[in-house]
Amino acid sequence: METTLLLLKPDALHRGLAGRIITRFEEKGLQLVGLKLMQMSQELAAKHYAEHTERPFYPGLVKFMTASPLVAIALRGPGAVAIARNLMGATFGTEADAGTIRGDFGCSKSYNLIHGSDSPENAERELALFFPEGTCDWQPISSDWLWDSE
Ligand code: RTP
Ligand code: MG
Repeated sequence: METTLLLLKPDALHRGLAGRIITRFEEKGLQLVGLKLMQMSQELAAKHYAEHTERPFYPGLVKFMTASPLVAIALRGPGAVAIARNLMGATFGTEADAGTIRGDFGCSKSYNLIHGSDSPENAERELALFFPEGTCDWQPISSDWLWDSE
């Protein structure tokens, strides 16, 4: 079982797509174990995007991500990290496949609606940044039918 971190970026909220995007993950059978509306501080952005500090797009990325609130989500399921990345699609809306979130809802490179952890190790690191209090653990009654038992 894995838990991954998603961020519905400020453009998703401005465009009124937060609910529809969350629905995609619920429909797939991943479990919400954390959900919060918050504004990303400069400090949090610097920690979260530390790997991109030297990239040319970094200043614009931080400006965008800190401009207005986002929704932080912790999502659980077997292989949740890879499943979430598949549902999100390729980084740029211009290139993401139809049927994915980025492919269906956007055509911008920078304003691409959603972040998802790219490995279980990064998921653990990012969950600690956004949910330092821990996640909310509960047992969905549908899990016997949704998730393989082995
Ligand atoms: P994310 O971290 O947000 O889930 O996205 P990702 O793994 O698919 O892409 P990554 O390479 O980690 O880039 C982080 C975010 O930076 C913005 N970006 N803009 N204009 C550009 O050339 C450019 N390149 C990256 C995007 O918002 C991307 O999601
Ligand atoms: Mg990334």
